[in-house]
Amino acid sequence: MKIPRRNLLQRGLGLTVAAVFPSLWTRAAGATHSGSEIDERMADGRGLAGLTKHDLPTPTLVLDLDIFEANLARMSQHAKAAAINLRPHAKTHKCVEVARRQIKAGALGVCVATIREAEAMAAGGIKGLLITSELVGPSKISRLVRLAKTHPDTMAVVDHPRHADQLSEAAGAAKIRLNVFIDIDPGSRRTGVAAGAPALELAQYAAKRPHLNLRGIHCYSGASAHVLGFEARRAHSQKAMTPAIETFHQLKQAGLPIEILSGGSTGTYNIDPEFKGMTELQVGSYVFMDVDYRVIGGRTGPVYSDFGASLMVIATVISQNQKNRATVDAGFKAFATDRKFGPDVHGIPGVKYQFAGDEHGILDLQEASREVKLGDRIEFIVPHCDPNVNLYDRIYCLRGEKVEAVWPVARGYL
Ligand SMILES: Cc1ncc(COP(=O)(O)O)c(C=O)c1O
Repeated sequence: MKIPRRNLLQRGLGLTVAAVFPSLWTRAAGATHSGSEIDERMADGRGLAGLTKHDLPTPTLVLDLDIFEANLARMSQHAKAAAINLRPHAKTHKCVEVARRQIKAGALGVCVATIREAEAMAAGGIKGLLITSELVGPSKISRLVRLAKTHPDTMAVVDHPRHADQLSEAAGAAKIRLNVFIDIDPGSRRTGVAAGAPALELAQYAAKRPHLNLRGIHCYSGASAHVLGFEARRAHSQKAMTPAIETFHQLKQAGLPIEILSGGSTGTYNIDPEFKGMTELQVGSYVFMDVDYRVIGGRTGPVYSDFGASLMVIATVISQNQKNRATVDAGFKAFATDRKFGPDVHGIPGVKYQFAGDEHGILDLQEASREVKLGDRIEFIVPHCDPNVNLYDRIYCLRGEKVEAVWPVARGYL
C-alpha cells in the first residue's frame, strides 16, 4: 500500500517524539484524533502509548477496564456460590474480547442473538455458542448449519415443529446433527412454545428428527429483568420461570435427553438460582450496566449497585451561547433511544441531558455543581447498553485515563 508523503512525515515525527516524550505524542504529531488514525497507528506498530481518553474523537464509546473486570469477577463469584453455570449473553457487547474474558472468568461459552453475532464469535475462537433467537428462512438456516459444521457444540432454539423439520433437513444435507433447545414462552408471547404439554409435545417431536440433538430448554423472561423493587422482581421471575422449570422436570421424566435449562438476566441473577432447576444464567448487561438497570433497586436498597457502570459515551460541548444551557455533539445517533429517558451525565451532579436531534444533546446547567465550558468533554452513562453498543464500531478500553486497547464491535446485521 502506498502511504502519502504527508503521513510518512507525521509518522516519522511522531515516532521520534514518542520515543522521548510518549505523553506528548499526540500533540507533537498534530493530534491522533480520528478513529481511523488510531487504527492506523495500531496496525503499523506504533500502538497506543501516550493516548488518553482526552485524545479520542467524540462522540466515542469507552470502557473502564477496572470496573468491567470487577463486574466479571463479581458475577463469576456469584455463579460459583450459587452453583449455577454462566453462559453470558453476547448481544450486550457483540465483542469477541469481552466474550474471551467472560470465558476466562469461568463461563461455559456465550449466548448470541443473531447469526451475525454467532459467526463473529466463532471467528474469534469462542466456543459453546447458544443462539437464543429462532433462525428461520433458508439463508439463516444455511449459515447456522455451516457454522455448526465447524463448531459442532453450537446450539440453536426452536419453537415450532415446522422449524424443527427445516433445521433437521438442513443438518441432514450437511451431514451433521444440530444441537437444539426448546424455546419456552415465559408469558411475554414474544417467542416460544407454551410450557407444559405443548413444550413436551414439541420436545418429543424434535427428539425424533433424525438430524437434531435435543439438549435443553431456553426460557428468557425479559419482562422480569427490569421490574422495580427486588421483591416484586422476585415474584415476577418466579411466576415466569416456574412453568419452565416444571417442564424441564417433565421432559426429563419422559426420558428426553435434556441437560440444560438456560434463562435469567442481570436483573434476576441473584433471584433465579433460588428456584432450583435452572442450570445456566444468560446474563448480559452486568458487564457494562446502564441507566435502565441502575434504577430497578437492589436486594438491600433503592439503587441497583451490584455492578458498576463501566461503559460511557464521551461527548464534547460544541455550543454555549445561552445561560445555564450548553450543547454537546451527541444525540440520537450516539445514544440508544428505545427508552423514555436519555443518558445520565457522569461526574457532574446536577447536570441533566435532553435529546436535541441526531447529532445534538442539550445540557441543562441550572443546577450544575460546577462550570461547564465550550470544548469540555462530558461523560455519560448510556441509557440502555445493548442498543447503545450497536451504534459504535469500536470500544476504547481505558485503564484510568490511558487507552489500553481498542476492541471491535460486530455491530449490525450482515
Ligand atoms: C434472550 C436474552 N437473554 C438474555 C439477555 C440478557 O439480559 P440482561 O442484559 O438484562 O442481563 C437478553 C437481553 O435482552 C436477552 O434478550
